[in-house]
Amino acid sequence: MNSELKWSPGTWRNFPVCQIPEYPDPEQLEKVEKQIAGWPALVFAGEARSLKKRLSEVCAGRAFLLQGGDCSESFAEHSSTNIRDYFRVMLQMAILLIYGSSCPVVKVGRVSGQFAKPRSSDTETRDGVTLPSYRGDIINGIDFDAEARVPDPERQKMAYRQSAATLNLIRAFSYGGFSTLENVHNWMLAFVADSPQGRHYEEVAERISESMAFMKAIGITTEANHQLRQTSFYTSHEALLLGYEEALTRTDSISGEWYSTSGHMLWIGDRTRQPDHAHVEYCRGIKNPIGIKCGPSLDPIELVRLTEILNADNEPGRLTLITRFGHQQIADGLPPLIRAIEEHGRKVVWSCDPMHGNNIVSNGYKTRPFGNILSEVQGFFEIHKAEGTHPGGIHVEMTGQNVTECTGGARAISAEDLSDRYHTHCDPRLNAEQSVELAFLVSDLLKKTRK
Ligand code: PEP
Ligand code: CO
Repeated sequence: MNSELKWSPGTWRNFPVCQIPEYPDPEQLEKVEKQIAGWPALVFAGEARSLKKRLSEVCAGRAFLLQGGDCSESFAEHSSTNIRDYFRVMLQMAILLIYGSSCPVVKVGRVSGQFAKPRSSDTETRDGVTLPSYRGDIINGIDFDAEARVPDPERQKMAYRQSAATLNLIRAFSYGGFSTLENVHNWMLAFVADSPQGRHYEEVAERISESMAFMKAIGITTEANHQLRQTSFYTSHEALLLGYEEALTRTDSISGEWYSTSGHMLWIGDRTRQPDHAHVEYCRGIKNPIGIKCGPSLDPIELVRLTEILNADNEPGRLTLITRFGHQQIADGLPPLIRAIEEHGRKVVWSCDPMHGNNIVSNGYKTRPFGNILSEVQGFFEIHKAEGTHPGGIHVEMTGQNVTECTGGARAISAEDLSDRYHTHCDPRLNAEQSVELAFLVSDLLKKTRK
């Protein structure tokens, strides 16, 4: 079993690996990886440790996790406006979840490094022409031409630079006065006023307004409390492109332990979670919080084994199991996983990804009906209630932009509307309104759970 062998950032190279393409020029690839290995860390190990600590609170049922962002970040959509709007929606969602759960919400972005994509097929065929699949901007180009689809190591440098710039702006927003509680509250009031279903949310908005007025009256003001002026925000992405990840794996000068410095939390995808393969081997040696995507093909015993390999010390906060069954399969699929984990006493955070099991094709577009997304989240809460476990968080693909990629929601986006503003480079995302609407609904579920 690989967990007994000595680990270093490159030992994954001795294991079978899925989803990483062959580069035509391995020497060029090596050159780029060496260069990135000399570049500054993007995040600091101490931050990853603090995230783990906060996730251990989720594990204990005393906090809730909100993880969200693009399916795939792209070079084309890299702008201040996009980052700001995305960040704003995450904060709006978080405040609603805090209200519903009456507990802290840990905010983790799928951002600042979410560039590499696993694909169900190695090739894509259009009008009789077959080309290698697009694998995310860090690997190749999305245009359907042979040259664009060749894996290009130089793209890793672009992804690194974009991650650094994105993180820089997010840090500025978190600490520079953009994220005050008052601002977040005002954005929410604007949502309630503008949304076609706004009146449904008026009551919640009013309650939050009252709480804020009360806090102000007793002297808890933005000026006097830095907690109300700032927020903590963490980054995450799928640890897919292992050469890039290896280049950003560093020893922490304080603890002497290995950390990924490409993001605070990394996750292993549903297609790369084989216990004896390279992605699990890489992740077992770094000390960051790790996520595992758990889909319908995951055997409960294999899941227990994965938790033993990836979290030998059974440390709370180290592992988040992100379940993604689909609204129809969750009722059969999730309980056996929960029971196996409970039976073996494994400490995990349970999070619900209601996106990846709910893909359908409609009018020629890959989409996800809002009602099915909500239905999977409802199933997740019901099942955890029945099993006596904590529904710890949600993991969503969303954007701050007004796109038309998922159908349904308060504005009732139809299959015919999808072509209006369909911009994603990979999977369909909730738009700003649909994201906030989902948060309102989850907030309500959290409130009921508390009762
Ligand atoms: C993703 O999160 O974009 C993804 C590909 O998920 P999964 O591995 O669960 O299919
Ligand atoms: Co996706």
